[in-house]
Amino acid sequence: MKLALISLGGEGSKSISKEARKYFDSVDEVDIKKIEVRVDEKKVEVLYEKKPLPEYDCVYIRGSFKYALLQRSISSALQGKCYLPMAPESYTTAHDKFLTMLELSKLGVNMPRTYFAATTKQAKKLLEEVNYPIIMKIPSGTQGKGVMTADSLPSAKSMLDTLEVFNQPYLIQEYIETSATDIRAIVTGKKVVAAMKRKGKGGEVRSNIHQGGTGLAYELDYETERVAIKAAKAVKADICGVDLLEGVKSSMVIEVNLSPGLAGITAATKKNVADFFAKFLFEKTKEFKGESKEGKYEEIIKEFGMKPQKEVIMNLDIKGGRIRLPEGITKITRFNADDEIALIAEKGKLTIKDLDVKKE
Ligand SMILES: Nc1ncnc2c1ncn2[C@@H]1O[C@H](COP(=O)(O)OP(=O)(O)O)[C@@H](O)[C@H]1O
Ligand SMILES: [Mg+2]
Repeated sequence: MKLALISLGGEGSKSISKEARKYFDSVDEVDIKKIEVRVDEKKVEVLYEKKPLPEYDCVYIRGSFKYALLQRSISSALQGKCYLPMAPESYTTAHDKFLTMLELSKLGVNMPRTYFAATTKQAKKLLEEVNYPIIMKIPSGTQGKGVMTADSLPSAKSMLDTLEVFNQPYLIQEYIETSATDIRAIVTGKKVVAAMKRKGKGGEVRSNIHQGGTGLAYELDYETERVAIKAAKAVKADICGVDLLEGVKSSMVIEVNLSPGLAGITAATKKNVADFFAKFLFEKTKEFKGESKEGKYEEIIKEFGMKPQKEVIMNLDIKGGRIRLPEGITKITRFNADDEIALIAEKGKLTIKDLDVKKE
């Protein structure tokens, strides 16, 4: 199987491709800066150094927010043809902190209250109603660079004026007191594979390692783990880094990183996170290849001699008081061993549902 890792060629991407060579038959490191996407009414074409991008079984796209549109276009063009750990829209959502909040909210993920105002005049009015300190953020900022703290109304107002001069959109966010710490959770699929707690350098509110923060391995409690996994699901990312603040009542998500740096988390947890990514990509690619051949509903139905209809009527296999689901049913539902499944049993009726799938 062939993997392409499209990125800016940073250290994280290099270590992932190194580990991926253990699993994939070939791994191509593709420079995102040399990619073009062409679209007309008939097709979308991805070109690399002016030639069509070869076919791959898995394409993992990394890189900064500057390439969000390109990343979305590439994955949109490749969707269905190979395993992609992100949906096309993940790139535009996750690279914008406010769009991320909107998606998180749909799944009921806890977060600091966040405002986005149409005009500075409106935002200033809002500043008169909030408690201080307050956080102001550039939606596409990274490494702590777009995050500011205002202790009072006058300082918040002057920050807004400056942001307006630079024509810079911003978010106003409730400040969560965590003694300048945050949590970075690395999610692959439905698992948190590594987590660290970061602490900001003396007097600094931002705990990013790029701002001098230090990271220590951290064991997440069950609830926080669920929040991180749900956040990944909200932005449709199978691989990501979720930043959380430990609030008094619950852990709150502040952002989802699609290209989490690996050096900090690897040093803090002593885990080979690059290898986790590589192995996960390989397993999912295998699943994708299998599924695209035999995972279609109609084919499963045929294979098990059932008729394609909404309700499948059959005799149940009950042994020792335990109901065993027919294999075809397990395949159609795509339940996995590590899914959180709810069973609702009533007289003559059993509903089984995957709790990880969308909030109802
Ligand atoms: N609402 C908040 N309350 C308290 N601290 C915050 C808040 N938002 C961000 N921070 C601090 O600033 C850091 C950077 O914020 P984040 O939203 O993760 O942006 P970036 O993309 O720059 O990492 C966080 O890790 C955290 O330490
Ligand atoms: Mg962050």
